[in-house]
Amino acid sequence: MRPKILVVEDDTRLRLLVLEALSTEGYDLTSAESYEDAVKAIEAEEFDVLLTDVNLPGKSGLDLLPICLRRSPRTYLMVMTAYGSIDTAVQAMKLGAQDFLCKPIPLKDLISAVRVAVEKNAAGPGRFEPETASDSPIIGRSVVMLNLLEQVNIIAPYKINVLITGETGTGKELIARAIHQASPREKNSLVAVNCAAIPEHLLEDELFGHVKGAFTGAQSERKGRFEQADGGTLFLDEIGDMDLAMQSKLLRVLQESEFERLGSGKTVKVDVRVVAATSADLERKILDGSFRADLYHRLNVVHLRVPALRERPDDIMPLSQGLLDRFCERSGLPSKSIASDTCHKLVSYNFPGNVRQLQNAIERAAIFSGQSAEVRVEHLPEEIKEQGSMFQMPAAHTVPVTIPDEGIDFSEVVSQVERNLLIQTLDKTGGNKLQAAKLLNLKRTTLVEKIKRLQIDSAEEEAEAA
Ligand SMILES: Nc1ncnc2c1ncn2[C@@H]1O[C@H](COP(=O)(O)OP(=O)(O)OP(=O)(O)O)[C@@H](O)[C@H]1O
Ligand SMILES: [Mg+2]
Repeated sequence: MRPKILVVEDDTRLRLLVLEALSTEGYDLTSAESYEDAVKAIEAEEFDVLLTDVNLPGKSGLDLLPICLRRSPRTYLMVMTAYGSIDTAVQAMKLGAQDFLCKPIPLKDLISAVRVAVEKNAAGPGRFEPETASDSPIIGRSVVMLNLLEQVNIIAPYKINVLITGETGTGKELIARAIHQASPREKNSLVAVNCAAIPEHLLEDELFGHVKGAFTGAQSERKGRFEQADGGTLFLDEIGDMDLAMQSKLLRVLQESEFERLGSGKTVKVDVRVVAATSADLERKILDGSFRADLYHRLNVVHLRVPALRERPDDIMPLSQGLLDRFCERSGLPSKSIASDTCHKLVSYNFPGNVRQLQNAIERAAIFSGQSAEVRVEHLPEEIKEQGSMFQMPAAHTVPVTIPDEGIDFSEVVSQVERNLLIQTLDKTGGNKLQAAKLLNLKRTTLVEKIKRLQIDSAEEEAEAA
């Protein structure tokens, strides 16, 4: 099948040029000249690549990204714009764009960028290629997450111990499960033990089991978690909370693959792969003497670090939409999309509680939005709703941090800051002055007067002509 490409560009001349250039590559091309046409096209069929302009009449092409992602998570999203502002690029990437092209774009560069997009897409999903589809457990399309999943696939087949670290709620347990599922042990059990949840004196029994009469109340024998995981994987969660005595016992099993049940002299041999996880800083614990260095090295044959969500903002929207779809499906709610100002709030928040916090926020929003087909800002929890407004500080380099000895031209610097703010805002609203005025809390007439004074209209026209 020929790769399907959707080109969204309101400038007729440019649209035709792009279509003509891409037609030489044998793609199945569709074009749209407005946001509304693009939405219709996206709803009608799945595309391999979406190539969209940012400034569409009255709308921003960036708003197409979440819509497209939701309809077809595998579509490769490419954005082009005449302004080339860093903020637009960052915003586009956060909303899931994989490529950002600045106009004027030489046609040969455009052709090769689209070729790369098509090839990347055709490479197809690997075993743990993340998706936003509701049946795939791990959602993510950021480079760091893709790299992590690639490491999972590489190490999964080998019986080596793995240590997974990362802040709370980043998805360590999901990664542990992914390792098990991608391994030949998948047919056998994955047994999970939360070391923090089991009182210290019971952990030994939990892990190694006991024989009848081993202690008062041991009326029958019981297999421990190690034996239950024989042939499979033992997931030791919150390993940082294990006490020192238990750490020595664990070390022995890891070294010799054998242990005794409580109350028994008989050695039990097991074939278990251990995956451990912690949000604690084990190296610090080693320094303060609360974690054994030798155990650390045994567990840490491979170290996987799950990045905090704020380190991979381009996962926020795919996660939000994916988790929303799952929740709505499970809870019998109508399927919902996320309004574009809500997307902006989500991507600007820093999520100290990581994916778990995002998941809670999305599920709560799904409930509060009831039968509505859209999740809006008012449905978000306070901390996400209330954090910094959409106002972004102008780029630091436009405001001198220190005043040089020769002084500055105050009016010129202030004009430059004003100019940047206006361009960014107009960029965001796709040139719509009324919306821009609202975002800046200005009267429309004041905005229009500033646009004239700062000669922004003429700059826009020049950029468009480029
Ligand atoms: N990439 C992801 N895709 C989909 N869901 C995710 C992803 N990462 C995390 N989650 C979800 O977020 C929640 C927290 O993930 P998980 O329990 O794996 O985190 P954790 O790092 O083990 O947290 P903790 O340190 O608190 O134990 C779970 O409900 C999980 O399903
Ligand atoms: Mg966990």
